[in-house]
Amino acid sequence: MIWPDTETAVDLREKFANTLFDEVASPWHKSFARVPRHVFVPRFYEQQADASWAAVNWGDEGYLERIYSDEALTTQLDAGGVPTSSSSQPSVMAMMLEALDVRTGHRVLEIGTGTGYNLALLCDQLGDKELASVEPDVDIVQAAVRRLEQTGQRPVVFAGDGMQGYPARAPYDRIIATVGLTHIPPALLEQGSQFGTRIVAPLGYGIISLTVKGPELAHGSFLPIPAFFMSVRGPANVPDFASVHEAPSEPSSVAPHEVLDRLKFALSIALPGYTTCSWKDDDGRLEAVGIWTPDGSAAIAQASGQVRQAGPRRVWDAVEEASRVLPEQIEREDFELTITPAGQLVTYGGVDGPSWHLPVPPR
Ligand SMILES: C[S@@+](CC[C@H](N)C(=O)[O-])C[C@H]1O[C@@H](n2cnc3c(N)ncnc32)[C@H](O)[C@@H]1O
Repeated sequence: MIWPDTETAVDLREKFANTLFDEVASPWHKSFARVPRHVFVPRFYEQQADASWAAVNWGDEGYLERIYSDEALTTQLDAGGVPTSSSSQPSVMAMMLEALDVRTGHRVLEIGTGTGYNLALLCDQLGDKELASVEPDVDIVQAAVRRLEQTGQRPVVFAGDGMQGYPARAPYDRIIATVGLTHIPPALLEQGSQFGTRIVAPLGYGIISLTVKGPELAHGSFLPIPAFFMSVRGPANVPDFASVHEAPSEPSSVAPHEVLDRLKFALSIALPGYTTCSWKDDDGRLEAVGIWTPDGSAAIAQASGQVRQAGPRRVWDAVEEASRVLPEQIEREDFELTITPAGQLVTYGGVDGPSWHLPVPPR
């Protein structure tokens, strides 16, 4: 079915583009005003107060207003009700596309096709000939290809693991990931041209903008915006709290709520792929916070000031360390990523500042 582009949709889209950009002169303003997001998101899911999900479909009351608003929209859920695909928040997409700095003739690779909307915006700027996108979910690939065809675009959409890039079309001048990463996959560095390729990607709870400087060499800093992208698909990350309960209780120098707010971004760099949960009393006061990482390490910190931790890495030590070395207020742009053959290192406030190695899994 072809979703009609009604006068209302055109009008809402124009207003939507105006809210995303201070300057209508931005070439991306035109693309956001032209590309119909509703074609790519004919249905999205909205979480209810009881945590269940309700579908909002094309034609439902308020559907178009939600489509043309600055909202990330969940478009796929797994059997357990966990979101597995979405159309990202438009203002974040806009900042990432601007940071990508594309020019006519650039060959671009996108990781995480999802609905195809971001790819359609790129096609609107560059035409579809030089664009490729990778997505592991075959159903999502098929739907995206169908919708791109409706808007007259035929970029290459490949069903595969974006962590391997898409070597068939390399080298790329620009690479954009729209799925959360914990490091920059070496395959993406290899598939850039050796000098000047720009890579823009969600890394932890931020967006990194990197420039390739040579073989296995790249450098860049984080954009000033927060970003919470869904992670690359992988095995479920379940905390081993049973081992934590058996571990000795020790005093903590960090209040548990710091993990949930002030240190949130920094910990996404210091403890890649970390997850948290919290326990509250009947009056809603925080009692404890749990934190765990994909390697099986976990900790529970009580509001009383005691912590227990277990597993291969003492995760709470990393929390205390981040709290000690970072100032009260941090600017994301002051975090930089340097990639060399020796590894991937994030530094804060210059080369002499605190630093964290991003773990790069063996290939
Ligand atoms: C936030 S959505 C992408 C949004 C998309 N660019 C759009 O405009 O709709 C993230 C997507 O990344 C995909 N994904 C997950 N793991 C991936 C991987 N290893 N390689 C490539 N894509 C992946 C998910 O299936 C999901 O569709």
